Amino acid sequence: MIVRKTQSELEKMRRSGLLVHDILHALAAQVAEGLATWDLEVAAVKMMEDAGARPAFKNYFVPAAGERYRFVLCTSVNDEIVHGMPSTRRILRKGDIVSIDTGVSLNGYFGDSALTVAVGEISDEAKRLMRITEESLELAIGKVREGNRLFDICGTVEEHVVSNGFSIVREYVGHGIGTQLHEEPQVPNYVDRRNENPRLREGMVLAIEPMVNAGRPEAKVLKDKWTAVAKDGSYSAHFEHCVAVTSNGPWVLTRP
Ligand code: MF3
Ligand code: CO
Repeated sequence: MIVRKTQSELEKMRRSGLLVHDILHALAAQVAEGLATWDLEVAAVKMMEDAGARPAFKNYFVPAAGERYRFVLCTSVNDEIVHGMPSTRRILRKGDIVSIDTGVSLNGYFGDSALTVAVGEISDEAKRLMRITEESLELAIGKVREGNRLFDICGTVEEHVVSNGFSIVREYVGHGIGTQLHEEPQVPNYVDRRNENPRLREGMVLAIEPMVNAGRPEAKVLKDKWTAVAKDGSYSAHFEHCVAVTSNGPWVLTRP
């Protein structure tokens, strides 16, 4: 069942969405050569505490990993797709791209967003990967309208990514969001005809999160049980926003 939110619930989600935005953009501004991904985690913990927010990811049980996640951020560098774990040993270097993904809950309502940032000068391929991935998210946001269907969103991401020569990661998907971090429906970044294709209705909120590889689409999980990487070692980018269906069209809760 897809839970639809009332206006007052959407306003609560808006507060968590804006907090996630502020945290992500403060972290993105700190990204520099020589910084450890752990430094980002420490800064994020502080900002969440100061805001009186609960981290959405820390202690979240992920069935595929068989355990709880231990951090407030996912920091996924270069070929890492998602669930990269902050570490004092992971020092960012010129030419890296790092995806920062985080979520919070405030008063029981969740926000979740991700972006990918460059560390210094990066390759043209990495730049284009980041641009196409972000564009695919923006195009999909434009489809979050009453009367459209879920596959309009999935298909829009897929079409933009594939027509630009990149690959959609299939193992990880977007999701509904509200009083739970992950609600129905799943939001794959490709049309999965095995799934239902519900019509979008006012009050639905979707976390749309394209994960795109520069090379082959296949992912594998490292021995740490969490870090998902591109099997072929190619760059991977990730952007995410929470978007509500309203009578005025898409409302992106995770940006001002
Ligand atoms: N943005 C991702 C998601 O919505 C990251 C979740 S990290 C987790 O699924 F470990 F908490 F699951
Ligand atoms: Co998400």
